[in-house]
Amino acid sequence: MTAAERIASPGLFFAKQFLRHPRMIGSAIPTSSIAIRALLDPVDWASARVVVEYGPGTGVFTRALLARLSPHARLIAIDTNPVFVNYLRDSLKDERLTCVEGSAADVGNILMDLGLEAADYIVSGLPFSTLPDGVGDEIMDATQRAIAPGGAFLVYQYSNFVLPYLKARFSRVDVDRVWRCIPPAQLFWARKEAAAVSVCGESLAAE
Ligand SMILES: C[S@@+](CC[C@H](N)C(=O)[O-])C[C@H]1O[C@@H](n2cnc3c(N)ncnc32)[C@H](O)[C@@H]1O
Repeated sequence: MTAAERIASPGLFFAKQFLRHPRMIGSAIPTSSIAIRALLDPVDWASARVVVEYGPGTGVFTRALLARLSPHARLIAIDTNPVFVNYLRDSLKDERLTCVEGSAADVGNILMDLGLEAADYIVSGLPFSTLPDGVGDEIMDATQRAIAPGGAFLVYQYSNFVLPYLKARFSRVDVDRVWRCIPPAQLFWARKEAAAVSVCGESLAAE
């Protein structure tokens, strides 16, 4: 497909990439707008400064995030597939967006190279259940370190596979299922505890 054909038919382009890399992409169709809204709507995006997206693919979440983020926020989209990264760079011109070809497992180094300390939110479209052995654990550990205290890891999947991974690393995990999309989506909001602050020797949880 030419660059113009990819931009005109993102669904077909996505499906062709799935046929080439089924385990890395994990789904033949991009996520539905119903699932996107259900995952993103509970978050106060206007106050987020640094947001990371894992596995943007053709950018269905990337566009929805940019529509919600403030003019001063940064969105770092990381994908292992260079074809998707080039597609996003060609089709989404927004100075808040940085597209990186790399693995989510390297999120710490990627943020450091961009001069960023931590992410307020990380949104994941990764197919955890079909990633090579050990990669899911590596990504979860790197994600837990990269999220700022009080921040959250937002995950959408088609199964509960990631739940034990999230529960092992985050202080609170909320779960919901969206039945009105095909296939039904499983959504997770995993929160990292806010840093404790000390006032006159008393330890208080920062809000
Ligand atoms: C199911 S697709 C999600 C695409 C899009 N976010 C959506 O919702 O339609 C999974 C994406 O994760 C990417 N991916 C797979 N392993 C990755 C990794 N270790 N780091 C970053 N991206 C990865 C794939 O290339 C693909 O773009």
